[in-house]
Amino acid sequence: MILPITQYGNPVLRAVSAPVETVDDELRELVANMLETMYEANGIGLAAPQVGRNIRLVVIDIPEDEEEGTEPAMATINGELRPVRSIMPLVFINPTLEPYGKQYLFTEGCLSVHNIRANVSRPDHVRATLPQLDGSVLEIDCDGLLARCLQHECDHLEGFLFTDRVSSAAKITLTKKLKKLAERY
Ligand code: NI
Repeated sequence: MILPITQYGNPVLRAVSAPVETVDDELRELVANMLETMYEANGIGLAAPQVGRNIRLVVIDIPEDEEEGTEPAMATINGELRPVRSIMPLVFINPTLEPYGKQYLFTEGCLSVHNIRANVSRPDHVRATLPQLDGSVLEIDCDGLLARCLQHECDHLEGFLFTDRVSSAAKITLTKKLKKLAERY
């Protein structure tokens, strides 16, 4: 089932989400619906607050880079170097992230912030502990798009949006657009 995506201005996007305590059929159904909703919207990540639920749950699916000559993205997954693609779609609850490395500027967008894209500076690497629905845990050390996406999605669980993290100069030009979005909400 495709769920409505909460839009900028909705307070659910600004709340700190609660840990997931139980994995039951209701949660598994929510995950299936979130994946369907993300694919339908052509997104690569979706956090539970974006479908109106303030719980620490995220789905991610980063497609293969189909540009010719590009090597598949790799990450250290539970101590083993593996293709990022091998863990997609990635579903996790109650994540712990440790971003590190040098700050890196990259253009971000968000399914909850319509028609706005902006450069955001974040560390280029992430170490992440990602509990899975089946009780196992993925320990990931990565860079590239996955590192970016993990930081963006986990920000949603804290009530942050990428627009909070742009430079103060960029914020000035964004403010008007965001005000319009909030009014429409
Ligand atoms: Ni987002």
